[in-house]
Amino acid sequence: VKRSVLIGSGSRLPDRIVTNDELARTVDTTDAWIRERSGIGERRFAAEGESTSDLAIAAARAAMDSAGLDPADLDLIVLATATPDHTFPATATKVQAALGAAGCMAFDLQAVCSGFIFALTTADSYLRAGQARTALVIGAETFSRILDWQDRGTCVLFGDGAGAVVLRAEDAAGDPRSDRGILSCHAHADGRHHDLLHVDGGPSTTQTTGLLRMQGREVFRHAVVNMAEVVDEALTATGLSSTDIDWLVPHQANQRIIEATARKVGLPLDKVVMTVERHANTSAASVPLALDEAIRDGRIRPGHLAVLEGMGGGFTWGSVLIRL
Ligand code: ACO
Repeated sequence: VKRSVLIGSGSRLPDRIVTNDELARTVDTTDAWIRERSGIGERRFAAEGESTSDLAIAAARAAMDSAGLDPADLDLIVLATATPDHTFPATATKVQAALGAAGCMAFDLQAVCSGFIFALTTADSYLRAGQARTALVIGAETFSRILDWQDRGTCVLFGDGAGAVVLRAEDAAGDPRSDRGILSCHAHADGRHHDLLHVDGGPSTTQTTGLLRMQGREVFRHAVVNMAEVVDEALTATGLSSTDIDWLVPHQANQRIIEATARKVGLPLDKVVMTVERHANTSAASVPLALDEAIRDGRIRPGHLAVLEGMGGGFTWGSVLIRL
């Protein structure tokens, strides 16, 4: 069988760190409230003029370097974002031009905070079908641009950043216990929950970009259930058990959601990669940012089994089980 093997990763955070205390100077909030409810201590905000594509390009270059690949080797670029540079063309084409990979397929994918999981799922399908051999998969966001600074229940929770991985199709034995690469993908959506987490603008409705709206408590409730279910789904599909998992790399929205998910799945917290304290919620960028950090600092090593998962607006949610 063919498997999509991860051969490189990279990430980029904007330079500007914004602490909770800094936010509390202009927003009616406190460091203590934000930490207690979300686990967030600080976030990064893109500089004026710095766009989603700038972050994506830097993350993509780092991933290509670590894979030791030439831009000409790429067959496919999938970029997950809910905050593209423009309505069109796809931000992925900006990354493609900057890398010098003209000619390969490049498109954006929109599944908000599950975007990177959906993008991996999509790239994996192309690779296993033989329609592409090498894919660059990116999650990149500038959520600071769609926050309502009058709404303290949401504006303190998000940040900007980008992460990327390079996948290559390789032949494998077909044994989930030993194969390297992506072992299973599970992605879901339920459009009935649109109003619980959405942006109240867009080209076809208001002709404005709009701002993020969230009913936090309701999202929280669904998130824990969905995040635990997609891990179970991955284990059932592959015949593996939670004791086989070396790392859980979840979407970084809220420390309490992550801890509750780990508990439900039966994983100790020392097997969970957690960046929410420093990155806040970077939507589609949060999983590849966390993954790249843990690969670079040596926690996630070749041979390790990791489950990546996300949940976001739509609702959308999903998991990817991968052996590094
Ligand atoms: N500072 C101080 N007080 C605040 C703030 C703030 N920043 N925001 C809200 N409050 C107040 C509220 O006004 C409310 O006050 P009241 O009781 O006097 O009315 C009180 O705090 C409690 O508000 P709740 O919204 O009920 O607080 P909750 O405990 O639910 O925590 C939070 C809010 C952090 C948003 C939580 O619900 C959450 O994390 N939900 C999930 C959100 C999430 O994960 N979204 C992302 C997933 S999908 C994606 O990533 C896009």
